[in-house]
Amino acid sequence: MPVRIAIDGPASSGKGTVARLTARRLGYAYVDTGAMYRAVALFAQRRGVSTSDSEALGVLTAGLSFGFAWNGSRLTVYVNEENISELIRDEAVGQGASQVSIHPPVRAALLEQQRDLASAGGVVMEGRDIGTVVLPDAELKIFLDASLDVRAARRTAEMTRRGLTASLPQIREEIRIRDVRDRTRPVAPLTQAPGAIYVDTSSMTAAEAAEHIAQLAEALA
Ligand code: DC
Repeated sequence: MPVRIAIDGPASSGKGTVARLTARRLGYAYVDTGAMYRAVALFAQRRGVSTSDSEALGVLTAGLSFGFAWNGSRLTVYVNEENISELIRDEAVGQGASQVSIHPPVRAALLEQQRDLASAGGVVMEGRDIGTVVLPDAELKIFLDASLDVRAARRTAEMTRRGLTASLPQIREEIRIRDVRDRTRPVAPLTQAPGAIYVDTSSMTAAEAAEHIAQLAEALA
């Protein structure tokens, strides 16, 4: 029976790549909830809504409709039918996402959509609060982690690959700040869910981590 897999972890822990590979290996759907928070930040910026205006952000979020589709091996994210996959990847949007994500009306609006996306089962959903809040009854919960140094190095390499200038000390500091905010916010902070399996990917490749998770899922099925 296809199960629901919840993967949580800090910024640049490899969640995205690992969750995507796991989904493809099992033939499951994949939902990147970070992309949803990033989309809210992007639209707030476009419409001139402040990242501290809780009520306006809630209204804005409720008006966004999300779609995910595979384009070869790449995942495309649509909001209101616009492809925003590339626009949401820069670090400024990531910081904006971390800021808008502290507001309860934003989280409530996305929670509904996230539960809908998982309702059919056979899904890998990744984020910060999937095992704790969104799908606490998921059959398999994973907390994916890696050391701050490894995460900063991965992120720097990824940016360099995309032709962007990247300073390792600056990226390390940005990730550290985002971690503190994500772990200490009052609503749905990043934390290991009860029953979640801790996987440290510091010295693992994404493919190894995905294979490990896929085998855990197969053992349940
Ligand atoms: O995983 P990511 O870096 O794309 O996430 C961007 C931000 O969105 C992250 O810093 C915190 C927020 N987020 C969240 O609060 N809850 C989630 N389930 C996913 C992301």
